[in-house]
Amino acid sequence: MTGRFFADATAAQVDKLARALVAARVFPDEQTLRAHHRDHPWMIQVSGRGDVAVLDRWRDHLDLLGVEALWCPVRHIGDAVTHLSSCAAEHGFSGLVSSPVRSSDVPVYEAAGMRVRETLAVLELTPVCPAAAPGRPDVSTRTALAADAEEIIAIDGECFEPFWHYDIRLMRRFLDAGGVTLAERDGRCVGYTLSTVDRGSAVLGRLCVRVSDRRVGIGSLLLEAAVSRAREGGARHMTLSARTGNAAALALYRSAGFADTGRRYAFLTVGDETGRDRGHRIGSLMGR
Ligand SMILES: CC(C)(COP(=O)(O)OP(=O)(O)OC[C@H]1O[C@@H](n2cnc3c(N)ncnc32)[C@H](O)[C@@H]1OP(=O)(O)O)[C@@H](O)C(=O)NCCC(=O)NCCS
Repeated sequence: MTGRFFADATAAQVDKLARALVAARVFPDEQTLRAHHRDHPWMIQVSGRGDVAVLDRWRDHLDLLGVEALWCPVRHIGDAVTHLSSCAAEHGFSGLVSSPVRSSDVPVYEAAGMRVRETLAVLELTPVCPAAAPGRPDVSTRTALAADAEEIIAIDGECFEPFWHYDIRLMRRFLDAGGVTLAERDGRCVGYTLSTVDRGSAVLGRLCVRVSDRRVGIGSLLLEAAVSRAREGGARHMTLSARTGNAAALALYRSAGFADTGRRYAFLTVGDETGRDRGHRIGSLMGR
């Protein structure tokens, strides 16, 4: 392989990249990385000029290919998007979803044919102090177990549109990592939150409450539980991302002390995100 052209990574190339990919949290550990490469060798792409792209299905219920990581200089992004879109089409995906893109890099992706699907604001809580939420006698929180996966997925599907909602495979991964807290009201699961703590940094990855149980303080209770967990885990700061148009969530986070950092990033897509017309539209959009 030479120059700009990407190709499937060999096992030796994966070995060389392993430490960096795990350090950057693209994979939780080297074993998971090697299993991903063994099952789908084409999902790790490398070029002769040192560019690296890691791919995975975006969600199991959608025919979208997600870019988990793209490591290359900004001037190579156009080539990379063209190549990865071709990969998506060749493997039967109807569209491609970018990794999170800093707002300053968005025009480069747009010039390569992608369009902004969603812009997210980054909020931060420093120091990590939970805002006390008024308790409710009918609501309790607990760490979720593997057996809760189906119920949590049902709530997630009710709270998020198909593009965002998690599939059972992702949820099992989160449950294995132990960062899911759920809320029960009169014995029913009514909401959950997902958070991680790593090397002093906590991330709130998800928070949602069933439509029928909103505005009675359950979101605040879950947020308090996640922040307490982060604090106990030694986090010095906690960040989260919220859609810039999600007024309810932004109000909740602000009332709990999260401040807008001003940082924005976007997810961009190309192709047909509904999964219809497999492999055709993305090819024509990319001029193939
Ligand atoms: C955001 C969400 C978790 C809030 O859950 P909730 O249980 O209704 O939240 P609470 O009852 O604890 O509300 C706490 C505060 O948040 C703010 N808030 C919550 N929902 C709001 C809404 N629809 N509009 C304006 N403010 C709202 C209010 O300040 C509220 O306090 P108040 O009721 O005393 O006015 C819920 O609306 C939800 O699941 N939304 C869909 C999923 C989602 O967008 N999650 C966030 C992804 S970043």
